[in-house]
Amino acid sequence: MVGRSNSEFTSRNGRFDLGKMGQDINRLTGNLCFGISVVILVVFIFIVTRYQPNAPPTKITSFLASTSDATFKSDGSVIKTGEDFITNVNRSIATLSFINITDIAEEQHYPTPIECDVDKPMTCNTPEIFHLLMRATIEAFNDTHFYRFGKPITSGVDDTSCDIAWKYRPKDAKRDSLYKDYRRFVIKHNTDCSYTVVSIGEYHSGVNARKKKKKAIANNNDGRFESNWNPNSDVTGQMNMPVVGDVVNDSLPIMDSEVNFSSGKYLVYTDGGERCKSMDHYIWSFLCALGEAQHLNRTLVVDLSICLSSMYSLSNQDEEGKDFRFYFDFEHLKESTPIIDQAQFWNDWEMWYKRNNLNLYFVEDFRVTPMKLESVPDTLIMRKFGTVEPDNYWYRVCEGETESVIQRPWHLLWKSKRLIEIVSGIASKMNWDFDAVHIIRGEKAKNTRLWPNLETDTSPTALLNILSDKIDGGRNLFISTDEEDTSFFDPLKDKYTVHFIDDFKDLWEVKSDWYVETRELNNGIPVEFDGYMKAEVKTEVFLRAKKQLETFNDLTKDCKDGINTCTSSP
Ligand SMILES: *[C@@H]1O[C@H](CO)[C@@H](O)[C@H](O)[C@H]1NC(C)=O
Ligand SMILES: *[C@@H]1O[C@H](CO)[C@@H](O)[C@H](O)[C@H]1NC(C)=O
Ligand SMILES: *[C@@H]1O[C@H](CO)[C@@H](O)[C@H](O)[C@H]1NC(C)=O
Ligand SMILES: *[C@@H]1O[C@H](CO)[C@@H](O)[C@H](O)[C@H]1NC(C)=O
Ligand SMILES: *[C@@H]1O[C@H](CO)[C@@H](O)[C@H](O)[C@H]1NC(C)=O
Ligand SMILES: *[C@@H]1O[C@H](CO)[C@@H](O)[C@H](O)[C@H]1NC(C)=O
Repeated sequence: MVGRSNSEFTSRNGRFDLGKMGQDINRLTGNLCFGISVVILVVFIFIVTRYQPNAPPTKITSFLASTSDATFKSDGSVIKTGEDFITNVNRSIATLSFINITDIAEEQHYPTPIECDVDKPMTCNTPEIFHLLMRATIEAFNDTHFYRFGKPITSGVDDTSCDIAWKYRPKDAKRDSLYKDYRRFVIKHNTDCSYTVVSIGEYHSGVNARKKKKKAIANNNDGRFESNWNPNSDVTGQMNMPVVGDVVNDSLPIMDSEVNFSSGKYLVYTDGGERCKSMDHYIWSFLCALGEAQHLNRTLVVDLSICLSSMYSLSNQDEEGKDFRFYFDFEHLKESTPIIDQAQFWNDWEMWYKRNNLNLYFVEDFRVTPMKLESVPDTLIMRKFGTVEPDNYWYRVCEGETESVIQRPWHLLWKSKRLIEIVSGIASKMNWDFDAVHIIRGEKAKNTRLWPNLETDTSPTALLNILSDKIDGGRNLFISTDEEDTSFFDPLKDKYTVHFIDDFKDLWEVKSDWYVETRELNNGIPVEFDGYMKAEVKTEVFLRAKKQLETFNDLTKDCKDGINTCTSSP
C-alpha cells in the first residue's frame, strides 16, 4: 500500500476551488458535515478500491488488552485518561509547602478587646476569624495536607456562620490531584469577646465560598502569610494537575472575529465507524485526530455530541446526543489545545469562507499520512471516512509509519471534573480513610468452564477469609462490583463498614451539584447517570483507597481472560 503512486492519491485527495463548488457547500454547511460529504462524493467520481489490510488491525486489540501505562485494561475495570499518567507531580508537590498549623498558632496574637458587642452581626472576613477557621480545619482533618485557604465569606443564612474554601490533598494520596472543599462553620462569639468554632458543616456545605472570585482566594488580609504558605500564585497552572472542586467553565470557545477565523487553519474528521462503539474505541480515535491536528498546527473541529454505546446505557440501546462534557474535561482540553465546536465552525465557515476565499482540502483515504498534509495551505483539511469497517476507523490514520511520528496527546484528555468531584465526595464521606475491593462476578462467575473458581472465591465466606488477612476489622470497605444484588455481601458487614457506590447516589441525584450543572449543560434536560459514568466513578474511588484488592490476583487464582491465560498479565 505504501508503494501506491502519488498520482492516484491526487486523484482522490485534492484541493477544492470553492468558487466552483460554492453553491453546493453553501447549501450544505447548514447540514453540517454529513451533507457535505455526500455532495463531495457526488462531485468526485472515484474508483472504489477496497483496501484489504495485510494484517488485522492489531493495534486496537493490543491497546485494549495491554496493561501498559499508556493504555486501558480490557475488562473496562480501569478506564485511564491523561491525568492518570501525570508523572512530574510528586516533584511539583514536594516544592509546594503545605500549611503547618504551627505557623498559624504562632501568629495568634489578637488582643481580646475589653468590650465588644456580642450581638452585633459577625464579620467573617477578619484576620481573627480567618485564623480561627484555618486552625479548626487543620485540627479537624488531621489526615490532610492543606495548600491554600480562601477568604472566609458570610454564609448569608444567619449572623453566626461563615463559609470558607480550601485546597487540600489527603496525606497518603494515591492520586496526584488537589481537591477543593468548602464548608460552613458555626461560630460563637463568647462573652469575653473571643470566638469559638461550634461546628463544621458537611462536605461542600459552604456553598458561598465555592465561587472562583478573584478576590475571594488568596492575598487577603494577611498577605505575608499567604506568600509564606504558598509561594506559587497559581497552584494549578504550575503543576498542570487537576484541581477538583472549582467551578467548571466548559463553555464552548468562541471565535468572535472574522479576521481570526479566516487566518486560522482547521482539521475536521467526518463520518466513520466509531459511532456508538465502546468509549475506549472513541478515545483511541479521538486522540488520533487530536494528535494529527497538533502535528499540523491546526485547530481541531470537534463534534461534541457523542453516541453512548448500548454497553453503558441504562436502556441497553445505543443513545445519541450525549455531550462530550458529561464524560471528559472540556475545560482542560480547550485551555490546552486549539479546538472548536463543529456547529460554531460551520456557522462561521458559511458566513466567511467566500469573502475570504477560504479553501477546503479533502482527504478520503486514511493512508494519506499526516506527514503528507504538512504543506497543505488550505484553511480546512477535511478527512472523510467511509462505511466499510475497519477501514473507516479514525485511528487508522495513526497506524503504520505515522505511529512513530504522532503520539497520542493523552495529557489533553482528562475525565470530567464533575465526575471526579463525585469521587472526591465519596472519598470525603469516608474521610479519605478506606480500603477497597473490586469484585468481578457477573457472567464470568457463571462461566465455570473458563473461570472454575471465581464463583466460590468471591462468595462472602471466601471473601471474609481472604480479607481478614489483608484488611483490619472495622475499616471502611468500598466494594466495587458488578454483582447486582449487593445484599449478597451482607455477611461482610459484621466485620467491616461496607460501602457501595449506590450508597452515595445523593451526589448525582436530583438537587446534587452534578445534577444541576449537567442539566444546565444539557439545555435544561436532566442527564442520566449512565453506566459509563458509574464505571468511571467506581474505578476512581477504588484507586483512591489505601489498600486496593483486585479480583484477579488478590481474590482468585483464575485468570482474567479465562483458563490458562495468566501467562503475561494475570
Ligand atoms: C509519588 O510518590 C509515591 C511515594 O512517595 C510513589 O508511591 C508514587 O508512585 C509516586 N507517583 C509518581 C507519579 O511518581
Ligand atoms: C510543622 O511544624 C512542626 C513543629 O514545628 C514540625 O515538626 C514539622 O516538621 C512542620 N511540618 C512541616 C511540613 O513543615
Ligand atoms: C487525628 O484525629 C483523631 C480523632 O480526631 C485522633 O484519634 C488521631 O489520633 C489524630 N491523629 C493525629 C496524627 O493527630
Ligand atoms: C468561561 O470561559 C470563557 C472563555 O473560554 C469566557 O469567555 C467566559 O466568560 C467564562 N464564563 C464564566 C461564567 O466565567
Ligand atoms: C484575534 O486573535 C488574537 C491573537 O490570538 C487575539 O489577541 C485577539 O483578541 C483576537 N481578536 C478577536 C476580535 O477575537
Ligand atoms: C508546527 O509548529 C512548529 C512550531 O512552531 C513547527 O516547528 C512545525 O514545523 C510546524 N508544523 C507544521 C506541519 O507546520
